[in-house]
Amino acid sequence: MRVLSGIQPSGDMQLGNYLGAIRKFVDLQHQYDCNFCVVDMHAITVWQDPVKLREQTFHIAAAYIAAGVDPEKAVIFHQSGVRAHAELAWILNCVARLGWLDRMTQFKDKAGKDKERASVGLYTYPVLQAADILVYKATHVPVGEDQKQHLELSRDIAGKFNHDFKTPDFFPLPEPLIKGPGARIMSLRDGTAKMSKSDPSANACIYLKDDADLIAKKIKKAKTDPEPLPTELDGLTDRPEAKNLVGIYGALSGKSDEDVLSEFGGQGFGVFKPALAELAVEKIAPIGTELRRLEDDPTYLAGILEKGAEKAAAIADPIVRDVKEIVGFLV
Ligand code: AMP
Ligand code: TRP
Repeated sequence: MRVLSGIQPSGDMQLGNYLGAIRKFVDLQHQYDCNFCVVDMHAITVWQDPVKLREQTFHIAAAYIAAGVDPEKAVIFHQSGVRAHAELAWILNCVARLGWLDRMTQFKDKAGKDKERASVGLYTYPVLQAADILVYKATHVPVGEDQKQHLELSRDIAGKFNHDFKTPDFFPLPEPLIKGPGARIMSLRDGTAKMSKSDPSANACIYLKDDADLIAKKIKKAKTDPEPLPTELDGLTDRPEAKNLVGIYGALSGKSDEDVLSEFGGQGFGVFKPALAELAVEKIAPIGTELRRLEDDPTYLAGILEKGAEKAAAIADPIVRDVKEIVGFLV
């Protein structure tokens, strides 16, 4: 079993990234061959200031390590440091069908109304993601729920390659690891919108970098409704903000939403929010402290990424060589 995942250096790491992705990385590293990349080539599908992009790349590497990914156990690297990703992406661009990409909802969301002005890279982004995974013949991909469609596409591309070139077992069909609490954390200002690094409202997001006071303040300011918490899950229907806060409490404490409601059902947010703030500060603030410390040492982080890229290339290069041979290129 080989695990691969990636996060874009397109903003500061937020609670959804932690609960939906990185926390799973930390658990998986003890059992599997794990590879975690900073997907800088994905980030430039929308405009990135070059100076900030480099800082953000270090930020994501620092967040992996601060959250508990051990660079001695897992390979941490930057995508652009392993050229096999780009090489395989081109070949897979010729395997994937336009119709498949036309169905991708993330492209529609990110391109907005004026899709003529979106970069070509933004359109073909999921093919590069498939290359990230298949270039290591990864079998398992821990991600949040928003990546489900991209993972299905990766499986379709792997299957079509295996079929077209009559190499039925060449690429494994990668399994998404999505389930579990925290797979979809919503904005603190709008329970129907995903928490996202690029949210313009600073209070919508808890960043891993936030200090204890800021974390507590954001939770206290989070949008809610005037009703007390219900005692049963059904009572959260049509209460997206309440549902999200209960989900965050559950994900941070390792309790099910049912258990959270049996503890807090009947109580108002005046009781629940301070309890949630205390829990979030306890779990997130220490990661932030370590993250800020690591960010002050870019030389250390550059060394980790460079060494990681070498290890990753040692796995990926022979696989790309085999792909080239299968396709009929001179090798
Ligand atoms: P991104 O920030 O888009 O590069 O996402 C990196 C990883 O974090 C992916 O596995 C996403 O699915 C996950 N992720 C991002 N936002 C959230 C969220 N609000 N809730 C759960 N997972 C998320
Ligand atoms: N598209 C993913 C996101 O926005 C990031 C990503 C790029 C990724 N390549 C990947 C995730 C490979 C898992 C595996 O969250």
